Amino acid sequence: MDTFVIEGGNPLRGTIRVSGSKNAVLPIMAATLMTADITEIDNVPNLRDVQTMSKLLTHLGADVRFTHRRLFINTRKVRSWEAPYDLVRTMRASVLVMGALLGRFGKARVSLPGGCAIGARPIDLHLKHLSALGVEISLKDGYVHLQAKHAPKSTVRLAYPSVGATENLMMYAASLSRRTVIAGAAREPEIDDLAAFLTAAGAKITARRGHVEVSGADRLAGVQHRVIPDRIEAGTFAAAAALTRGDLHLAGARPDHLGAVLKKISDAGARVEEEPDGVRIVARNRPRSLTLTTMPYPGFPTDMQAQFMALTSVGDGTSVITETVFENRFMHAAELSRMGANIAIDGRVAVIKGVRDLKGAPVTVSDLRAGAALVLAGLAAKGRSVVHRVYHLDRGYESMEKKLKSVGASIARRRN
Ligand code: EPZ
Repeated sequence: MDTFVIEGGNPLRGTIRVSGSKNAVLPIMAATLMTADITEIDNVPNLRDVQTMSKLLTHLGADVRFTHRRLFINTRKVRSWEAPYDLVRTMRASVLVMGALLGRFGKARVSLPGGCAIGARPIDLHLKHLSALGVEISLKDGYVHLQAKHAPKSTVRLAYPSVGATENLMMYAASLSRRTVIAGAAREPEIDDLAAFLTAAGAKITARRGHVEVSGADRLAGVQHRVIPDRIEAGTFAAAAALTRGDLHLAGARPDHLGAVLKKISDAGARVEEEPDGVRIVARNRPRSLTLTTMPYPGFPTDMQAQFMALTSVGDGTSVITETVFENRFMHAAELSRMGANIAIDGRVAVIKGVRDLKGAPVTVSDLRAGAALVLAGLAAKGRSVVHRVYHLDRGYESMEKKLKSVGASIARRRN
């Protein structure tokens, strides 16, 4: 398993180009199952999760080719409606094929995803609201069996703005000729990107402030679509610039997707400059302490919580971070403490007493964004850090070490 070897202390200076969004491309790849056509997706990041979703689509009968950040997906020969356990367990986002397979075949058989490092992550909201739209659901041998029937209702109201549940509901609704309303929906930019894709493919979707209206079509067409930039990758490098007191231009970043994050970067004392092609972050001093609470979009994103724990670990005071989205997303705290951070966890609240310097150390990654936090801490720490299990990072960051090295970081991948 590969490791990153990092010598800390270098300020990041220069330009990093932001890749396409992992959390936008995965649901869009699932949605291609509804077209029985050829779809071309541009600005696709080369990530392990994209490879896993490609494997799932291929298992279902699609022909998937990936070259120069373009995916060509031909779903004409898709005949299977089953997402098997061995693929779903490696990536929970595989459950996003549920809505698309229902739309294509009127049925689906999907392995229950099981939990992951950051929480149980059930899919009860997906199933509750698909059932409200007339889908018969049964659980057997660890699989969810779904069968589309006539829907008694055409409006669902989500109890919680689940991103994945919203996406599965949108995809299924896009196959129904009548109008479906999804109230209390998630509002992440990735939802808008999926709506744009489904609309280009022939459905009519409006999504505004958590109110989604879908008028579907019985057959969607293959289209060309360019994926939005990855706001979490951009936010991660923005935090790295603030942490290393650097001067970083994030080319392709969309400030309008990063409101809550850039506000906190600025509160930490860095200068944020919006530019025609992205955002520039300039930091000269030790970060200021912060208080932040993760919330569904447009609140502060849970996917940026670990990175800000690294940032505040060298802050000039006491910071408080509250995680409201996942129940077990503080595992990076223990590893940061091994680098000298002073963090006390009480349930969903972390109290971080800023220290002047972190010390390099061998650390182990537990999940994708915890890994990002440990890399950021290593970039700022005095001395050498060895980051183990970087395969977690390869799921969601394209060429992370190459991008960081190009702006002055001393970081190398060691293949073991
Ligand atoms: C998406 O996961 C993202 N993944 C996650 O990013 C992100 O953290 C999350 O949204 C929140 O923004 C992708 O888009 C592939 P949710 P998802 O359904 O859809 C609970 C990353 O690092 N819940 O909004 O699974 C759930 O347990 C990943 O890139 C239920 O209880 O998130 C969690 O506590 C990590 N029942 C909360 O809601 C359900 O049926 C948010 O989950 C569904 C969710």
